[in-house]
Amino acid sequence: MSADRWYKNAVIYSLSLDSFLDSNGDGIGDFAGLLDRIDYLQGLGVTAIWLMPFHPSPRRDHGYDVSDYYGVDPRYGTLGDFVEFTQACRQRGIRVLMDLVLNHTSTEHPWFQAALADRNCKYRDFFIWADKRPEDADEGLIFPGVQETTWTWNRHAQAYYFHRFYDFQPDLNLANPQVQAEMLKIVGFWLELGISGFRVDAVPFLIAADGINVKDPEPAFEFLRHLREFAQWRKGDAVFLAEANIPPEDCVRYFGETGDRLQMMFNFPVNQTLFYALASGDTAPLREKLQASRDLPPIAQWAHFLRNHDELDIARLPDEQRKAVFSTFGPDEEMQLYDRGIRRRLAPMLGGSRAKLELAYSLMLTMPGTPVIRYGDEIGMGEDLSLPEREAARTPMQWSAEVNAGFTPCDEPVRPVIDHGPYGYRKVNVAMQRADDGSFLRWIERMLRMRKELTEIGHGEFTILDTKSHILAMQYTYEGRTSLFTHNLSDRKVEFAVKLDDKSESVRPLVCLQTNRSIPASDDGSHDLVLEPLGYRWFRLGGLEDMIVNGGPAADTPVRVVQ
Ligand code: GLC
Ligand code: CA
Repeated sequence: MSADRWYKNAVIYSLSLDSFLDSNGDGIGDFAGLLDRIDYLQGLGVTAIWLMPFHPSPRRDHGYDVSDYYGVDPRYGTLGDFVEFTQACRQRGIRVLMDLVLNHTSTEHPWFQAALADRNCKYRDFFIWADKRPEDADEGLIFPGVQETTWTWNRHAQAYYFHRFYDFQPDLNLANPQVQAEMLKIVGFWLELGISGFRVDAVPFLIAADGINVKDPEPAFEFLRHLREFAQWRKGDAVFLAEANIPPEDCVRYFGETGDRLQMMFNFPVNQTLFYALASGDTAPLREKLQASRDLPPIAQWAHFLRNHDELDIARLPDEQRKAVFSTFGPDEEMQLYDRGIRRRLAPMLGGSRAKLELAYSLMLTMPGTPVIRYGDEIGMGEDLSLPEREAARTPMQWSAEVNAGFTPCDEPVRPVIDHGPYGYRKVNVAMQRADDGSFLRWIERMLRMRKELTEIGHGEFTILDTKSHILAMQYTYEGRTSLFTHNLSDRKVEFAVKLDDKSESVRPLVCLQTNRSIPASDDGSHDLVLEPLGYRWFRLGGLEDMIVNGGPAADTPVRVVQ
């Protein structure tokens, strides 16, 4: 049965259509373009694509301001193109997840328009209103510096409406059963068209909407169970991946004590402490957040990422740690955003250092859960800080050294292509890296291939082994297989010993998966290891080709010759 939990050993790739590939020369990426590059993604090792919002929308927040939940923005294609795309993915065994933005609509959504026009129509109660400006209207801003209030006056409605995010994104009123019914209908519709699940936007805010009582609402966790139950009646293997940037101890309520709510959550605490570890070499906070991320119901799964389409949000780090991350990865004011984050891509944050990029990816790929990669990071793309807010890290995909990086022949791409400096498309592009076996793209391909063979990471149990403070050594065990992942966060070579927690009876050598070398155990059963500065090594007992018979190696399995 565990094999049916497909999301536990998936590799998710997130992309927004508008910046991936333009097929018709209007400067905007589209479904036909994406369709043309599915084989590229399959070759990379991707098993699921997370599509960012593609609905009709004024696009004032990158499509997270939806004006029709049942449609496809004509700039990207038609509903027909969407189904062609899901079908093409299915043929290749690739799953599709899509963004589900239910916390708010666009002010242009017909529900909101109807609510403005008529105080007595049924859509009025789809949103949250106040006759007087609530006293806390200046609190709880999500985009400080850009957004000024959470309540905005509308003269047609003759009332204030509530918006957790920008003023053009009125919050839906989850307390209204008709709103809940509409939400389920949207979920059912897209499942019918061939997708495998949703990345659920802004979940803490979605379930915080408690009618007019926005100040101290009781989270509507029951709704998460409804959502899950409904989706699984319609499509048994459908999953929800929640965006909720909350402390780890609160997360279990999103999964549900018995695992009856959402199956997956992004692990923001691990993400923030991982960047702190990269900035400082200190792995203690990361270990602590990893420990806090265990003991989940069996169905639950973390999703891990390095960068996403938003700012790198480090608000939850203690002051000293946050300062360290800012000063190492985003020292200039123009690199920072909303008093809490860094609006850069991964490669420039790491100073373009290949060793650091490999270390960061190796860490992320071996965190307990499912990896999520952001388009362009597989070739080490950069950012454009002249663009506003989060747009800086949303520039077009760099396919080749042709005009506009091979993204579009149009003179006016949806956002400017990065065309100068060390991350310009003539230096960083897919075509060049494909042709170079030593490239970062080739490295990622090899790592993803290996990562998928190591099913114990996504499915198994982990233990953090006792070692030196700059070293992170994690062991995973699942169905008789045991692996060990070691990382050196310091810039010095480190020698250390680890003792695996291994209960299997047969003696299998510890095989390094990068070098195919076997490491013998010392007399006390521990292994002596050496890691280069910023080095990492992946190991499995018996190697990747270890034979598993009835959950463990057969007695007469020949043991690999130690080199
Ligand atoms: C989420 C999205 C972000 C968007 C916001 C409002 O945080 O990740 O991009 O702006 O929700 O929908
Ligand atoms: Ca186009």
